[in-house]
Order: sequence, then structure tokens, then C-alpha cells
Amino acid sequence: MMRRKYLLYLSPILVVSFFLCCNNAPEQKIERKSIDYIRAIPGVNDSIPAEIAEKGKVLIAYSDCYTCHKIQERSVGPAFNDIAKRYPVKKVYIDMLAQKVIMGGSRSWGYPVMSPHPKLSIEEARIMVSYIMSMKRNL
Ligand code: HEC
Repeated sequence: MMRRKYLLYLSPILVVSFFLCCNNAPEQKIERKSIDYIRAIPGVNDSIPAEIAEKGKVLIAYSDCYTCHKIQERSVGPAFNDIAKRYPVKKVYIDMLAQKVIMGGSRSWGYPVMSPHPKLSIEEARIMVSYIMSMKRNL
């Protein structure tokens, strides 16, 4: 008889602690992610001609990029500002990212997959990426 009573007293405590534990867990995960979300790659930045950045802005506006990206905040994909923060302005990175925009892909940001853009030429994709990189100036 004594045991049952104990259980009766214990059960609300168990229920509450269950909820505490399981409500906390996802929060902690999100916090950890935001800390090491952007690992900036060190490197000296080259300059981006203003007219290239301007052209990239127009190309991006006419493409589907803004269905998944926002400038300031995360959306389906990372914020353009965050992409600008991560990569130094260097031809190797611009080429790599341009290639990725065309091929699509995942794994760099822990997000879902970016759709491929096979109709873009490598030159157009480079110009778009240059515009994204030019956002470094406003950060
Ligand atoms: C269907 C949604 C979607 C569309 C449309 C989209 N993106 Fe993305 N983009 C993503 C996702 C998701 C990621 C993150 C991929 C990853 O984690 O590697 C991403 C990542 C990127 C990156 C960073 C890649 C890296 O490896 O760091 C660049 C640059 C980029 N997108 C540019 C563009 C441009 C330019 C367009 C328009 C032509 C575009 N995206 C359209 C979803 C999209």
C-alpha cells in the first residue's frame, strides 16, 4: 500500500520532468547551431567592380533565388549576408559557388538541397555570386 502512495506522489514529478527535459532539448540544439553557424574562411578580399555587382543584382531578381534566399535572414537557404560573411572575395570561391548554383547541392550549411540552375551560364552565375559577395561592404 505504501508503495502505491509513493508512486502517486512521484508521477506528477515524473511527468513534469519529462516535459522539462524534452522541451529543453530542441532549444539547446538551435542555440548551438547559431553559434557556429557561420565559420568565416580567412583570406584577403579582392574588389568587386560596382557594375558587376549591379548586374548580378538584376540577374538574381529575374531568377528564382529569392524563393529560397533572403538578404538578411535565413530562409530555405542561408541569408545572402551570411554567404558573404563566410567566403573571402577570391576567384576560386566565386568559381566554386557559381558552379554550385548551376549544379545545385547541399551540405555546406546543413540545409536542404539547393535546386540546380542548368540554364544559367557560368558567367551569369559568377556575376550573381559577385553580387552576393558585394554585400560584405554593408555588413
Ligand atoms: C530551392 C531553393 C533554392 C533556390 C531556388 C536557390 N537556392 Fe541557393 N541555396 C539553397 C540552399 C538550401 C542552400 C544551402 C546549400 C548547402 O547547405 O550547401 C543554398 C546555398 C547557396 C549558396 C552558398 C553555397 C555554398 O556552398 O556555400 C549560394 C551562393 C546560393 N545558394 C546562391 C543562389 C542563387 C544565385 C540562386 C538563384 C539563381 C539560388 N541560390 C537559388 C536553396 C536555394
